[in-house]
Amino acid sequence: MSRSILVINGPNLNQLGQREPHIYGHTTLDEIKAATMARGKALGLDVDFRQSNSEAEIIGWIQAARGKTDGLIINGAGLTHTSVAIMDALLAVDQPVIEVHLSNLFRREEFRHHSFISRAATGMICGLGAQGYLIAVDAIAELISKAGKA
Ligand code: DQA
Repeated sequence: MSRSILVINGPNLNQLGQREPHIYGHTTLDEIKAATMARGKALGLDVDFRQSNSEAEIIGWIQAARGKTDGLIINGAGLTHTSVAIMDALLAVDQPVIEVHLSNLFRREEFRHHSFISRAATGMICGLGAQGYLIAVDAIAELISKAGKA
């Protein structure tokens, strides 16, 4: 049976490649999307990869994913540190959630050390750049396969 995951990217991640490359690297979101989809395909996962600058749109995607996808990967970007509403939406889904950040939040400003999303995530990967997305796909494939065997 084919499994599907949703990968959600928050505000300003559409500007990856040009945006503060000393922090976020030179890889564009399209390149991350291609690599993430390829890794998913290799593991038998259909990957729906999206980006939005709108908190409301992201909440709508999370709500719609309930019962429809097998796992969620999210880089909430700036909303990570502010959005109780995204945390609440994630707490209501019934599938594994992996949080990803390109940069190491704990080496940066104090306000980035707190993540509302982490309270709703099975695990979190940060500081490994674009590779973090691939590690997240590996992790979620494992979690989905374990849940299927339970
Ligand atoms: C980010 C880290 C956030 O603090 C920041 O607001 C982002 C990107 C990351 O991937 O490192 O937009 O989520």
